[in-house]
Amino acid sequence: MFGLSREGNAANVIVLFMNFIESVFEKLKRHPKRIVFPEGTEPRILQAAAQFVKRGLGTAILLGKAEDVHKAAAEVKVDLSHIGLIDPAHASDLPVFAERLEKLRHYRDLGKAQTLDILMKPTYFAAMMIQHGQADGLVGGASVYPGTLLRPLIQIVKPLPGSTSVSSCIIVEVPDESFGEKGVMVFADCAVIPEPTVDQLAFIAVQTGLICRQLTGIRPRIALLSFSSKGSAKMPATERIAAATALAKQKADTEKLDLEIDGELQADTALLSDPAERKAVDAGLVAGRANVLIFPDLNSGNIAVKMVKHLAKARTYGQCLIGLSKPCAHVSRAASVDDILGVAAIIGLQAIEYRKIYKTDGAE
Ligand code: ACO
Repeated sequence: MFGLSREGNAANVIVLFMNFIESVFEKLKRHPKRIVFPEGTEPRILQAAAQFVKRGLGTAILLGKAEDVHKAAAEVKVDLSHIGLIDPAHASDLPVFAERLEKLRHYRDLGKAQTLDILMKPTYFAAMMIQHGQADGLVGGASVYPGTLLRPLIQIVKPLPGSTSVSSCIIVEVPDESFGEKGVMVFADCAVIPEPTVDQLAFIAVQTGLICRQLTGIRPRIALLSFSSKGSAKMPATERIAAATALAKQKADTEKLDLEIDGELQADTALLSDPAERKAVDAGLVAGRANVLIFPDLNSGNIAVKMVKHLAKARTYGQCLIGLSKPCAHVSRAASVDDILGVAAIIGLQAIEYRKIYKTDGAE
């Protein structure tokens, strides 16, 4: 059972009863949102969308050919009567979206027929919907390779001001409540940028901290991870993380974001107080108590999240994309119905205060 943390700001603390995801559902029920799911024929998406609506979390909009979606829904016994369904090929917005797509750099010289062909693909149509305010959040990726969803999002959805790249974070809930915030932590980047630069790592650290605070109401304690703790090994690979830490701290200070950030730290030093004390790591509030873990690259991040999910039986909800002006998530092809429902709820929750949190105009 979760309780209020002594560190929480009374105004924005989410009361975490039962478990983390139930607390997200409770808050979203009070501010229901519209989530678009581009993969309308995917059985797990259909079931998650039906649950999303049944629990009163908002409106689910599925994309796909109407007859294919109906057939797939019948196979998993999902009733579509309360779920939105749009076939991009016959959508009234198709011509408007085509005009808008033609104005974007990557699509400028394609010609009408090719532009329409692109937009009939649900991932592109969904990206246009979210960019132009016809949905509050987007969840996809359950049945496609990562680039199939990431490319349209990167090219069509406006970036956050100050962002030069899209990355991601994932919410991890381990059964052992002594870690993170009653077992809840946020890991990044485990899905998008293979080898982030120092600048990108700093941006990922700060943005993930903001997401952690929105979801848990707790002051983020962000550790930038390495195989070294505060100079125990000095080589380019560790100095890169130390430089990203310094830059992230500077960004947080300049923007008065109230984030605790430290690095470079080993994973045990970040998570457990004993190693932190034994290694005499003078790291203020982060060492031994981190609730946000920033990985040096995609190999380490992606491996870590899969290990924790399977070996420690963690629940994982992600990947929530970072750096876009609208809330979007890319789920794993291995995601379960519950994982997808949880991500959809988190994306809905993010939509409630997206502009406030990320200081974006989110304009079209
Ligand atoms: N953010 C913003 N722009 C980007 C990003 C990014 N992360 N990555 C590439 N771009 C831009 C480039 O700057 C370039 O822009 P330009 O056309 O203006 O010059 C354009 O996109 C194409 O660049 P490429 O390097 O060719 O990128 P590509 O489109 O091939 O790949 C992608 C981008 C899909 C994000 C790629 O980096 C990727 O596949 N990442 C790993 C995804 C993955 O396999 N994740 C693992 C698991 S997924 C899961 O767990 C849910």
